[in-house]
Amino acid sequence: MLVQKVKGAVKSVLPASALALRRRFKRYARSFRDQNLPLEQVFSDIYKKNLWGGEAGEFCSGEGSSLKTNAVYCQYVTEFIARHQIKRVLDVGCGDFQVSSKIVDPGFEYVGLDVVEPLIASNQQKFGKQHISFQCLDVTVDELPQADLILIREVLQHLSNQQINTILEKIKHVPYAIITEYQPQRDHLRSVNIDKPHGMDTRIWDHSGIYLEAPPFSVPGVEIVLESAIEDYLVHPGERLVTYLLRHKSK
Ligand SMILES: C[S@@+](CC[C@H](N)C(=O)[O-])C[C@H]1O[C@@H](n2cnc3c(N)ncnc32)[C@H](O)[C@@H]1O
Repeated sequence: MLVQKVKGAVKSVLPASALALRRRFKRYARSFRDQNLPLEQVFSDIYKKNLWGGEAGEFCSGEGSSLKTNAVYCQYVTEFIARHQIKRVLDVGCGDFQVSSKIVDPGFEYVGLDVVEPLIASNQQKFGKQHISFQCLDVTVDELPQADLILIREVLQHLSNQQINTILEKIKHVPYAIITEYQPQRDHLRSVNIDKPHGMDTRIWDHSGIYLEAPPFSVPGVEIVLESAIEDYLVHPGERLVTYLLRHKSK
């Protein structure tokens, strides 16, 4: 308690530039530590310490899960599922299920996948039904269940370029993938797809983001189907969530 009070008092007298420097140092220290830890441990720790928000004991996947732009995304996915008569959906890195809970429907089977075991157990207990289930797996390592459509939303941005390429290779057997990731405003883009170790931060702090059409991913035929401006931007105004559609087989 006293430590928290002292920390708060120190923060209140530091100038903004010193606080920004402190935040940057913490990010570097975190990413240096995380690169040597197993992926499962890094993401479990984020939830355990509520680093993406929520109260102690809750599972919270962060701000991105409560943005107004989610409504546009959910409408797009819902229409896509109906139009393509999708029967089974895998949600890779389903997190706290806040977003996909607006998509599920008894007309198709939904399987949420995440590497964090206690999160999956909690989701299964709270939301599991005949057409909704959750499985714990690491998508960079484990075999994926069969599906007609894969959803990946704000997951790749937390992984290294090598891990992303592994996932893109693994999902090739699924006819469709809808992938949504964070990008900076164009004037603030320094370089696309800057590499980073797996962990809580995204490339936005390095003025970068995930661009599936560009190296080292260069996904053939990838199409941008949605672009939504973020109101509560992280670094600069104009940041956006971009949704890609990947077709692996003509249907
Ligand atoms: C920022 S959250 C996004 C959650 C959700 N998709 C959303 O949009 O709200 C990223 C999630 O991906 C999960 N994740 C990261 N790497 C993973 C992997 N290799 N396999 C399965 N899940 C992973 C994390 O545990 C976390 O729950």
